[in-house]
Amino acid sequence: MDDNVILRTEGLSKAYGNGPKKTIALDNVSLQIARRKLLAVHGPSGSGKTTLLFLLGGLDKPTSGRIYFEGIEVSIMSERRLSKLRRNSFGFVFQNYNLVDELTVLENVMLTMMFEGKPDAERKDRAEELLRRVGITGKERRRPSQLSAGEQQRVAVARAVANRPELVLMDEPTGNLDQENSQQLMRLVADMVQGEGATCVIATHNLDIVSEAPSKIFLKSGRIVSD
Ligand SMILES: Nc1ncnc2c1ncn2[C@@H]1O[C@H](COP(=O)(O)OP(=O)(O)O)[C@@H](O)[C@H]1O
Ligand SMILES: [Mg+2]
Repeated sequence: MDDNVILRTEGLSKAYGNGPKKTIALDNVSLQIARRKLLAVHGPSGSGKTTLLFLLGGLDKPTSGRIYFEGIEVSIMSERRLSKLRRNSFGFVFQNYNLVDELTVLENVMLTMMFEGKPDAERKDRAEELLRRVGITGKERRRPSQLSAGEQQRVAVARAVANRPELVLMDEPTGNLDQENSQQLMRLVADMVQGEGATCVIATHNLDIVSEAPSKIFLKSGRIVSD
């Protein structure tokens, strides 16, 4: 096992549907993700980026192939073990923030830490500290929908790193942001995600992100065409 590899896949494939409606979203993808490096996953719409991220994060199961996280095969884990892994080791940021609007901004960040068995006060302190670091101060009691797109996505970053995950998966995190907010978000990713030693995988169309990423793969019709 290569110590520098945090996650790797072997012949990963995912098909949706059956018969004439069958779509092969991911086709025999083998890759290695280097620890603490940012990997950009680039490719046109429909090329399989979201599917890949969901499989890597254990949010969906592959049709065939294997995924190893720290050398341990994820694809055969029980649902119970997998949900523990998702909670403790993975963080997610989605294009549409996926914040819970029934909760305040502060509660959204605290929610991730709910299963850690930490006292409320401690979770609150950590959430407040994270929100301060992403530049959301004075708005902790608002609902997510009362924040701008850029602010909501920064809250999503705070939430994703709350449990100090080893791997943060981001699906077009700047997809709804203008250039200034995109740059601000990427600075946060560099400071907070990579600064804390996490490995980061970003599916993105943003060519600035792709060009600056130390490693990248390009997907086309579910296959890696270059890296
Ligand atoms: N739940 C689903 N059911 C059927 N087809 C799907 C589903 N999710 C994605 N697909 C198909 O799989 C392919 C890859 O989709 P996706 O991973 O979302 O690509 P991307 O994120 O690069 O736009 C597309 O052809 C898409 O239509
Ligand atoms: Mg997508």
